[in-house]
Amino acid sequence: MPITTFRDLLAHLDARGELARVKRPVDPAYELIAVLRRMQKGPNDALLFDAPRGSPTPVATNVMSRRRTLAATLDIDPARMLPEMVARESRTLPCEAVERAPVQQVVIEGGKLDVARDVPQVVHCERDAGAYVTAGIFIARDPATGVYNASWNRAQLAGGDRMRVRMMPPQHLGQYQAAAEAAGKPLPCAVVIGAPPAVMIAAASKIPYEADELDTAGAWQGRPLRVVPCKTVPLMVPADAEMVIEGEVVPGLREEEGPFGEFMDGYVEVGRNHVFRATALTRREDAIYHVILAGGTEDLALLSLMLQTEVYKRIQPIARVRDIGMPGQILGCVVAIEKTSDEQARAVMLAAMAAHPWMKIVIVVDADVDPHDSEDVLWAIHTRCRPDSGVHVAPGVPSFPRADIKPVHSGKLAIDATVPMSMRDVLKRRRFPGIESIDLADYVTRPSS
Ligand SMILES: Cc1cc2nc3c(=O)[nH]c(=O)nc-3n(C[C@H](O)[C@H](O)[C@H](O)COP(=O)(O)O)c2cc1C
Repeated sequence: MPITTFRDLLAHLDARGELARVKRPVDPAYELIAVLRRMQKGPNDALLFDAPRGSPTPVATNVMSRRRTLAATLDIDPARMLPEMVARESRTLPCEAVERAPVQQVVIEGGKLDVARDVPQVVHCERDAGAYVTAGIFIARDPATGVYNASWNRAQLAGGDRMRVRMMPPQHLGQYQAAAEAAGKPLPCAVVIGAPPAVMIAAASKIPYEADELDTAGAWQGRPLRVVPCKTVPLMVPADAEMVIEGEVVPGLREEEGPFGEFMDGYVEVGRNHVFRATALTRREDAIYHVILAGGTEDLALLSLMLQTEVYKRIQPIARVRDIGMPGQILGCVVAIEKTSDEQARAVMLAAMAAHPWMKIVIVVDADVDPHDSEDVLWAIHTRCRPDSGVHVAPGVPSFPRADIKPVHSGKLAIDATVPMSMRDVLKRRRFPGIESIDLADYVTRPSS
């Protein structure tokens, strides 16, 4: 069964012993994120903060921090994640409209709304400009076609009815906003927090401009997404979400936004970015607010699934793919293939580098290497790569496009860490019969027990 609401996801994690509860008061500025950061270093469980000081709601975070959790929400076998994502993407399911929705149990309209009071004020990093919404999914419609787009965007909570957001083409939301602005019109938007898991995955994905991302979310979860009309803007939003901030992006207006601690562990400096004017906040009576740390395990799990799917689409016609991993960061990938010729590994490297601009470093390994395990991947590089013929540099090809850090993202690197076909026998990996069924607790005793 797929998991179709945020609170069902929390219940799933709880049942697996992967939800940790924080009952003591915690400061939403810095302390909450410091606890999360510690948790992400291990054991990387989800966290539910019952009582952040001064917060109108509890706060949940790290709920999508494992690939197997993402797979469970869509009811997919983790080993079949990428082929299944691609197969389902084409089977879009139209949304199911409902009239009454849990997300509209409480409605705070217009002049009564203050985003500095009605939204938890979570501050993440030392130099951040203040409190941000970091797990907000922006829902908007293409002004020309009406197609729905969902995308994650950070939003600075400026106070009153104002938030500040960066939205730039080629991001689809940026394209919608530019089109609306060129016509002198505001862009209606709704920011969904505590969304159904399939919507979280759709919001990170790079599905084509023409595709409706809410219908694709339905396809991924295998049942239509329940949606309800917003109270103040002409948009449908997920009926079972925890909170929605309705509003519009004001045309022709920019304000200073940032700095903000971003996903590569540095900062995005101050920029003149777009202004979102909130027209209403709707939520469940007992809403739980979702927070994501940029560059943390949850952010990277969501983004890497989207990138892996794009790489898989390009490679699957060339080679039999065991899986694709992105251990450590998401500016590169490890592709595990069942190689049938030495040339095939080269073709895979080229295709992976071209699959997405961010693919700066590509490593190809054999199917007996776990592409999600950085130690196993390094083992393959140490023991199987031939540096004099297995390392390829594509100079001058841009990868991550941010202007101020462009020099370190110029050029691409590919490493062939597969065994040469002629050495398959001599480099065959050794096995330890019976190891799969060994539980150390059945064998060892510790001095204290
Ligand atoms: C938690 C999270 C936060 C994100 N924040 C931003 C952001 O602030 N700005 C941005 O351009 N992309 C951000 N992204 C990436 C976009 O959501 C992602 O690239 C998405 O595919 C864009 O979709 P679109 O091109 O369909 O609009 C974020 C992703 C995640 C998972």
